[in-house]
Amino acid sequence: MSPFRLTRTLPEDAAGAALRADVRAGLTGSPKTLPPKWFYDARGSELFEEITTLPEYYPTRAEREILLERADEIAAVSGARTLVELGSGSSEKTRHLIAALDGLRTYVPVDVSESALTRAGQTLAAERPGLDVHALVADFTAELTLPETPGPRLVAFLGGTIGNLLPDERSAFLSKVRALLAPGDALLLGTDLVKDEKTLVRAYDDAAGVTAAFNKNVLNVVNRELGADFDPDAFDHVAVWDAEHEWVEMRLRSRTAQSVKIPALELVVDFAEGEELRTEVSAKFRQEGVRAELSAAGLDLTRWWTDGEGRFALSLSVAR
Ligand code: AVJ
Repeated sequence: MSPFRLTRTLPEDAAGAALRADVRAGLTGSPKTLPPKWFYDARGSELFEEITTLPEYYPTRAEREILLERADEIAAVSGARTLVELGSGSSEKTRHLIAALDGLRTYVPVDVSESALTRAGQTLAAERPGLDVHALVADFTAELTLPETPGPRLVAFLGGTIGNLLPDERSAFLSKVRALLAPGDALLLGTDLVKDEKTLVRAYDDAAGVTAAFNKNVLNVVNRELGADFDPDAFDHVAVWDAEHEWVEMRLRSRTAQSVKIPALELVVDFAEGEELRTEVSAKFRQEGVRAELSAAGLDLTRWWTDGEGRFALSLSVAR
């Protein structure tokens, strides 16, 4: 049995304080917004797992196809002894990469969902004897402090989650990632690609309504954590393609004029009929854009792989 350790890098109430700050800022601003990281409580993580199996939601399958095909190449190029995975979730796709990385000694999954980390981390530690699994419950958009681990390091940020950051947040994030790396260490980055609008919107508005439930779940999170009285059924799920920014936006549209109480913030939030609350952006990329953003952070793109249908890309970049 390999060691499994779990570290909370956040002080006990840091998540609560961050949620309160985000909800206050997001619901008192115009237009109203909430950051997508609050989707992922235990229920939200479960709903996201279900999304990844939907016929319309291609990114997970496309990325898995690339990872399966390229795991050996990634292992050879990186020679990693430490794999850090940001936003690891269920770590399901990463299994193949871990299996291919012969010299791997330490796996550091980082996620805000403690439930997902514990499940995934314990399974992996049991599966791969000798692998040191050090799970971190952390918000990697806020701070990133890693345990001392052997190099070379490979940081993986999969699933296209970088697309959930706004452009300014992306450049700040990539600079922080670069700071975790020594020259020659690598970043493996998953990015969903620009494609036709119909395919994109369907992926975020599936026929079974799972994405709608996932979107509305953020209201349940605010209800539970901050004592709010959101009625999730009083909002409609909306997914739109923003061609100018090249991102999909998820929104919750208020079906009526309504007031929502948020006791923990001593706040009442008014919604007009039809008013929309933005809950997520999911940016879609092109190779040249990815190369430029990486380069600005001190990372040189050295490999670019796509699935057979050219829907999704994995890139490997190396720290200068
Ligand atoms: C996989 C976390 C990047 O933007 O596609 C799925 C999450 N949101 N359906 C994405 C998500 C709506 C997502 N990430």
